[in-house]
Amino acid sequence: MPFKRNTPKPLQAPVKKPETEDGDEEDSKKSSKGTPELLRGFRDILPEEQGRWNLIRDTSRALAEAYSFDRIDLPILERSDLFLRSIGKATDIVEKEMYVFTDPSNRSVALRPEATASVARAYIEHGMVERTQPVKLWYEGPMFRHDRPQAGRYRQLHQVGFEVLGGNESIIDAQLILIAKKIFEELGLNVEVQINSIGTPDCRQAYLTELVAYFRQFRSKLSEDDKRRLQKNPLRLLDSKEPETIELLKEAPQILDWLDEKSKEHFMKVLEFLDEVEIPYVLNSHLVRGLDYYTHTVFEFVLAGDEGEKAQNALCGGGRYDGLIELLGGRPTAACGFALGIERTARALADKGINPPSIPVPNVFFAQLGDAARRVGLRLFEEFRKAHIPIAEAAGKNALKGQLEVANKLGVQLTLILGQKEVLDGTIIIRDMESGAQETIDAKKVVSVIERKLQKDSGVKPEGFSPVSES
Ligand code: HAM
Repeated sequence: MPFKRNTPKPLQAPVKKPETEDGDEEDSKKSSKGTPELLRGFRDILPEEQGRWNLIRDTSRALAEAYSFDRIDLPILERSDLFLRSIGKATDIVEKEMYVFTDPSNRSVALRPEATASVARAYIEHGMVERTQPVKLWYEGPMFRHDRPQAGRYRQLHQVGFEVLGGNESIIDAQLILIAKKIFEELGLNVEVQINSIGTPDCRQAYLTELVAYFRQFRSKLSEDDKRRLQKNPLRLLDSKEPETIELLKEAPQILDWLDEKSKEHFMKVLEFLDEVEIPYVLNSHLVRGLDYYTHTVFEFVLAGDEGEKAQNALCGGGRYDGLIELLGGRPTAACGFALGIERTARALADKGINPPSIPVPNVFFAQLGDAARRVGLRLFEEFRKAHIPIAEAAGKNALKGQLEVANKLGVQLTLILGQKEVLDGTIIIRDMESGAQETIDAKKVVSVIERKLQKDSGVKPEGFSPVSES
């Protein structure tokens, strides 16, 4: 059944019509005729990119396991009010970026724009408060934000996230920053962490009164967007991209001056722990993050140096959200976490020329001549799989020449050649691709012989030669 478009109801995200400059109108026209194309802001992750994606996921998983984080998988679709209540009605994400629609049961649902809200929901729903605290969870998967597509900004984005729930100690914030830093380090990326504290809702309120009073004097200088922020979510003025606002911010009151003693102490301790583990940080008093649930520490990772200047976008963002679980109806539970953007991290790897293979590069190629050889080949593949030796083939090609060309292109060390004669004799030919030397061996011993040859990195010495016929 086709989904009906959402009609605004209380507690629903006001879904803005896509702006023409998004290119969405043109996109809609395209879809009605011709070959189907990707929606704007969505992409295919092609085989040649998978190596980088695997590397990011594997590195994150290894660190998650090393630091005893349990994996959690969360649904992509949630009730839309989960995000309205947690991320905040006046945030960009909820105001204009959520994919909200009415499902066939007439419920307002949303494609998740992020997963922290879902983790908090799951923590409450599964009574995780009864488990040993803190509960440490990690996840990965797609998120959806109907933002204006541009470099590094997609409408389907993928994140790896780490969350620690049920702990208010500064060490947790520092350890999460350490883990994120280690992920980037292991990936070979040079990153810098920017950090700030936005305190508790109470001290933030006092600060906001001051900030609003300051900006009101210059209201006429603000862009329409920033005027709206001033009214609805003044904290977001701090990370405005408007040059006028950036200039005004230089003299604006700073949130760190408004922190209460406890918030200050918490933040100082986080910084001390970071010093302890020698993680340099940049104090960024304008860092506030775009989600309402944050309290105390907030942080973002960007590429260091010139690369960071060029890329601009954060690779990873996070912070503490001590009020979220209570806000959603759970017991007061302090929590902290971060999420790393896979697309932006993969882009940074590509820019550095880091391009790991997506599957193990085979060192052996199997060339067959005729159906009998193909049949034997099926069995042989299974034996090699059990021995963990990856093998390439070009099953669609019949001629030996074509198959050897593929083997050469792949750069394999050895090719196994099986013709009708060899099938009848119970033998198989091994060809050293570099020297062209060939030897015929007992087919039953092929796995162990290949294993030995591959172990000898020095290459293969020709022993017995046999001419190969395309029989
Ligand atoms: P976020 O800053 O909205 O935080 O997203 C985290 C990361 O996801 C960003 O730093 C960026 O790398 C990536 N990202 C966000 N939007 C896009 C986009 N449109 N296209 C490509 N990449 C994007 C959160 O989502 C919080 N849930 C993080 C968190 C976890 N806080 C506490 N725990």
